[in-house]
Amino acid sequence: MISIRKLRKSYGSNHVLHGIDMEVKAGEFVVMLGLSGAGKSTLLRCINGLTRPDSGTLQVGGIDLMHKHSCRELARHVAMVFQHHNLVPRLSVRKNVLTGRLGQVGTLASVLQLFRQSDIALADQCLERVGLAHKALERTEALSGGQMQRVGIARALAQRPQLILADEPVASLDPRTARSVLQYLRDATRELGIAVVCNLHQVDYAREFGDRVVGLAQGRMVFDGRPGDLDEAALNAIYHSAPQPAEAGGNQALVQITADSWLTGAVAAHAGGL
Ligand SMILES: Nc1ncnc2c1ncn2[C@@H]1O[C@H](COP(=O)(O)OP(=O)(O)O)[C@@H](O)[C@H]1O
Ligand SMILES: [Mg+2]
Repeated sequence: MISIRKLRKSYGSNHVLHGIDMEVKAGEFVVMLGLSGAGKSTLLRCINGLTRPDSGTLQVGGIDLMHKHSCRELARHVAMVFQHHNLVPRLSVRKNVLTGRLGQVGTLASVLQLFRQSDIALADQCLERVGLAHKALERTEALSGGQMQRVGIARALAQRPQLILADEPVASLDPRTARSVLQYLRDATRELGIAVVCNLHQVDYAREFGDRVVGLAQGRMVFDGRPGDLDEAALNAIYHSAPQPAEAGGNQALVQITADSWLTGAVAAHAGGL
């Protein structure tokens, strides 16, 4: 579904992504962990075609995003879920979900908000998947934060995507609501065979919901494994992103420094995140 090799992206002198390699298979639920500023959102925006990488290879659903591409074509494969759901508060819940169909209907129809009966049925099915069929005709602004996020998921599902990218979808929710939203997202995508890449802050949620976890630190992939393999060393690599001592392997300069006894403490303190 996603194939990324040696992907790099800089903003001026700020090197944000340093050669990312990543594969995501159809139907996989991948959680991406990392400190703020690690490059998670930038990577999602590259995968979504919103940001152009500097070099490397990037394919999504067979579309090569390093070359000129049709956003409309990509939009048929990829949907986004945001932290602040980006819904239109005054519209009904159903109309917000129907905006997920706008990529598929013509310009005139979308301006006039003319939707096919089949699209309305699909929107209602998507609402059913997130447990909100009974709210279809309510104004969106009357919903709770967790319900709004579920509408955001229903809107993404209504695009019939092969891939959903979720950028911190539960960051503004309390833990109980957050878990319920992630549960809806995982169940719906699992039943429909949709791949998900979901940026999260909470390690517990990554363990509970991820089929796979990837860890990004300072623009590098420092962990890629099953949630069960997310041990202390992995968490250190993700959240204490200073250079690791000699056992990390291969870095001669670091080996020499750590052999120097008076520096060892300083390096260890640095590696421990100060
Ligand atoms: N549009 C942009 N222009 C300039 N710098 C950016 C832009 N987007 C992100 N950055 C920089 O890229 C780095 C990574 O940001 P981001 O991808 O948002 O990280 P994360 O989502 O992991 O918090 C930060 O240093 C940020 O300031
Ligand atoms: Mg971010």
